[in-house]
Amino acid sequence: MEHAKRPLETPNIKRPLPHNVEGIPTPTGPIPAETYRLRRQRLMEGMESGVALIFAADHVGDGQRQDLDFFYLTGLEFEGGAALLLAPEHPQYKEILFLRPLDVEDNRWHGNRPILSRAIELGTGIAKVMRTTLLPRMLTDAILNTRERDLVYLGSMVGYTSPIPKQLQVLRDASARILNSKIRDGHELLPRMRSVHDEDEINIMRRAVGITVEGFKKAMQSVKPEMNESELQYVFESHFRREGSHSNAYAPIIGSGLNSCVLHYGQNRKVMKDGELVLCDVGCEYEMYASDITRTFPVNGTFTPRQAEVYQVVLNAWKASVAAVRPGVTWAQLNEIARQVIDEAGYADDYFHSLGHFVGLYVHDSGLQREPLRAGMVITIEPGIYIAKEEIGIRIEDDILVTEGGCEVLSADCPREIHEIESIMAARG
Ligand code: GLY
Ligand code: MN
Ligand code: MN
Repeated sequence: MEHAKRPLETPNIKRPLPHNVEGIPTPTGPIPAETYRLRRQRLMEGMESGVALIFAADHVGDGQRQDLDFFYLTGLEFEGGAALLLAPEHPQYKEILFLRPLDVEDNRWHGNRPILSRAIELGTGIAKVMRTTLLPRMLTDAILNTRERDLVYLGSMVGYTSPIPKQLQVLRDASARILNSKIRDGHELLPRMRSVHDEDEINIMRRAVGITVEGFKKAMQSVKPEMNESELQYVFESHFRREGSHSNAYAPIIGSGLNSCVLHYGQNRKVMKDGELVLCDVGCEYEMYASDITRTFPVNGTFTPRQAEVYQVVLNAWKASVAAVRPGVTWAQLNEIARQVIDEAGYADDYFHSLGHFVGLYVHDSGLQREPLRAGMVITIEPGIYIAKEEIGIRIEDDILVTEGGCEVLSADCPREIHEIESIMAARG
């Protein structure tokens, strides 16, 4: 795609990259190192000047994921405590990766980390790799080597009650010590890049969605009255693990009966009863990318007339909004379309969340919802109606790729129509 048109400029990479050398950090997964280099290059084009710093997560493992901006720019999934410095103006500081100092005793607990070597530079595709102990000095030097002494903040804006993000705090601390320096706002650059996916990313997401869709089919074919919600969760998860997904993209929601009306229900341990609906909002993560699907189906395999009536309204809202997805449309327009269908059917107060979000490295991925959609974005469309007094909570959620000509429902194969759900459930053993 876009990659092919860009001139390849890899001044420091003369040999093929070593791959999977023990302890040598290299990009993980199917996305080539060259893609990460092009992303850094594009980001620096967007910055134009100045110095930016992107931190890895302090610690990766024990349930903590890598920082996703750092991963997006380096492909390094397991390097905790690292940082990436970008400074487009000056060749000496253009791209520097800082890795945590080596601790030979820590190696025995957490695996081998090597001494700095050329192999690390070749492996990461980043021209310079240093220890984080040198970061303060190098950051100052890099800033002094810019024309405007500008530091570019690439993180997100947070509310005043949240902790000040580390990236912003470090830039402020550095700026306080450098006369005539200033911090510039670049917080839209990465969301704008991250929300439009290339072919490799889309293929990974197709796989993630495909695994989740099969999980839904298995769940629909397994559920029955008196089964526990947690057992149904296990049907999804055992399938995900078997298919190469090492974790879920988010905490699964398996809500039956009244629980179907609790938007973030997560206990998943009630016994499901005959006549109830079960709302399953589940997605696997595959090669770091999320999928996010919701289906609501009857525990006994057949919708009651009232359940079907409400279900059909949600489905109509889903169809109307999906039909409008194309480049140029805004989230506000899509929201309005779904809202209108639900309001007109008389359920205005029973739909109280927004229509969807971006999906990518994170389930609620980075992106700018006030800007119109662009081809290459993957979004969810997920209208719902929740009527607690009737124990009817229904949401239908699919993952949708925005294409040049409109959109493609990546999760199209997941049964959605009432007759599709009832027929796959009728085939249960
Ligand atoms: N599963 C979270 C969401 O649908 O947004
Ligand atoms: Mn969602
Ligand atoms: Mn969801």
